[in-house]
Amino acid sequence: MPTEARTDRPALLGAAHLSLEEFGDNVRHRGLIERRMRHVGGSVLFFDDPVHLVRGEGVWLFDDEDRRYLDCYNNVASVGHCHPEVVEALTDQAGRLNTHTRYLHENVVAYAEKLASLMPQGLDVCTFVCTGTEANDLALRIARTVTGHTGAVVMESSYHGNSTTVDALSTVAHPTPDDRPDWLETAEPPNTYRGPYRRGEHDRLGARYA
Ligand SMILES: Cc1ncc(COP(=O)(O)O)c(C=O)c1O
Repeated sequence: MPTEARTDRPALLGAAHLSLEEFGDNVRHRGLIERRMRHVGGSVLFFDDPVHLVRGEGVWLFDDEDRRYLDCYNNVASVGHCHPEVVEALTDQAGRLNTHTRYLHENVVAYAEKLASLMPQGLDVCTFVCTGTEANDLALRIARTVTGHTGAVVMESSYHGNSTTVDALSTVAHPTPDDRPDWLETAEPPNTYRGPYRRGEHDRLGARYA
């Protein structure tokens, strides 16, 4: 397991740009970027010439000039962009009731039952959360409660969310070991294209990364 963070390859999420000058000379959406920076701040914005997306459909994303992009990356729309059944269910529910789970509701129970039916036996209780950050934060708390230990292993260049605890697990935000808690260990992500063990150059790639 490497002890030193690798800084010779691009961070997974790209760097935060804190000023307009940090973008390339040919940005197409300077005005929108400027407005975003003023009120959304210098949070991560992909690409030197950021893409202005306006809609999605299945595997496709479309920009403001109706140019289409095959989405090989997005981790938000897990059944494709704007799946009609999801849109219909969201729209229907938003028009009826949008509240927390501390009341009885048929849908909450039915959804948990359905998820549990798809899981291996023993994984049969669901806790619903709103974000990936909350899910990872809760997972860490459950693991710590069950094991009585505190340590965690994450991949280098990982992003797990933005709460105080989960930020500490996000090595992309803390590229040097000095900037990480002592209860955290890292593993090299199995990247056989750019990583230290590469297809065509090394054998037993799975074993080497493991
Ligand atoms: C791999 C991964 N984990 C966790 C998160 C955090 O999710 P959220 O933004 O919903 O808190 C993200 C968000 O991009 C993510 O990409």
